[in-house]
Amino acid sequence: MHVLSMYLFAWISLGHLAFVWSTPLDERAHEPESRLDKITSMYAFEGFVYALDNCPSFVKLVQDFQRMLSKGARNVITFDYCGDGTDAAYYDQVIQAAGFTGINIIPLVWTLLIGNQTLEDTAVPKINAVTQAVLNNPGPVLAVALGDEPLYDNDFGSADNLASYIWQIKATFAAAGLSDIPVSISELAYGWQISGNITEMVNAVDFFMINEFPYFAFDATSGGNTTSWNDFLNDLDYYQNISQGKPLLITQTGWPSNEDEFAPNSPAIVASVPSEEAYWNLLDSHCEDFFKAKNIGWMWRSWDDTVEGWGAVYSNETEKWNFSY
Ligand SMILES: *[C@@H]1O[C@H](CO)[C@@H](O)[C@H](O)[C@H]1NC(C)=O
Ligand SMILES: *[C@@H]1O[C@H](CO)[C@@H](O)[C@H](O)[C@H]1NC(C)=O
Ligand SMILES: *[C@@H]1O[C@H](CO)[C@@H](O)[C@H](O)[C@H]1NC(C)=O
Ligand SMILES: *[C@@H]1O[C@H](CO)[C@@H](O)[C@H](O)[C@H]1NC(C)=O
Ligand SMILES: *[C@@H]1O[C@H](CO)[C@@H](O)[C@H](O)[C@H]1NC(C)=O
Repeated sequence: MHVLSMYLFAWISLGHLAFVWSTPLDERAHEPESRLDKITSMYAFEGFVYALDNCPSFVKLVQDFQRMLSKGARNVITFDYCGDGTDAAYYDQVIQAAGFTGINIIPLVWTLLIGNQTLEDTAVPKINAVTQAVLNNPGPVLAVALGDEPLYDNDFGSADNLASYIWQIKATFAAAGLSDIPVSISELAYGWQISGNITEMVNAVDFFMINEFPYFAFDATSGGNTTSWNDFLNDLDYYQNISQGKPLLITQTGWPSNEDEFAPNSPAIVASVPSEEAYWNLLDSHCEDFFKAKNIGWMWRSWDDTVEGWGAVYSNETEKWNFSY
């Protein structure tokens, strides 16, 4: 479908929703702010992680992005993939829905390999599809994530090999006049810590996309406990140590209401809606003294329970608690 007719179709079928049109980032010629400037200026709550497993339609994407905006979100990062993850046209739709709604998007390439899958046969086609979609629709794209915890999962065989893929993507963007699009990985502190010599990787990323999950700590209890905040600070400390002054953005943080998708490491863990809500409130309570003071933004994993238990809303779209920012 032509983009314009798709927009028109969505407008007609969603006539009851008020849409906010955004100016694509690359058309703001009068604004000196680069994408990285934008990232640098972010602090406190910034958005949500959004899983693509169920292949949401353009209309569903717009509805969800619109609801995120109404909750104070400015950004969304994708998680997982639709189908086999190699259809550039599907990523086109996701990015166009973000542009239509007026939310910045960070497309994340899912590089996890399972069983006998190889980088070449499974991850590279996904890298190519996302890269193509970004070239097709750069406007709403804030940055690109090459992998969710690719160091922790060792998707690329080595930190140096992952760095070489980042340089390749950056070269492709630069050749299309899009050298302004930052590229990074969404990663745990632990992923960097176990990856040997990370010098090339630190050089390759334009900023650090941080996965922050005190839930997985060995001393974790409930979301609102001081242990959660101490574990959080400890990981952030590590990132500040390695960042070489590059911006930090917590692209994924949260606490699940059940243990179904990812098992904890602490026997004292409390996975429940009150515990999830308490973790959100813990982050919120440090808005001024930490996130604003250090200029660090955070994005909540996840929007809904497609990541089982991790959503701020259930699969039926009901809010787990009355969250907003
Ligand atoms: C990889 O594993 C799958 C499932 O176990 C199997 O069906 C397939 O034949 C394997 N492919 C190769 C190339 O070994
Ligand atoms: C780490 O890698 C960098 C870049 O390849 C290299 O210059 C440096 O010597 C390495 N450091 C160590 C301790 O091996
Ligand atoms: C934190 O968890 C510990 C261990 O379960 C408990 O003793 C303590 O009371 C909790 N503190 C708060 C503030 O919840
Ligand atoms: C950060 O660096 C400081 C100074 O080198 C060191 O004392 C501290 O342990 C480091 N923190 C982490 C979490 O690596
Ligand atoms: C949505 O799902 C939750 C959890 O299963 C349930 O408690 C709630 O009643 C449901 N809401 C609606 C409107 O169906």
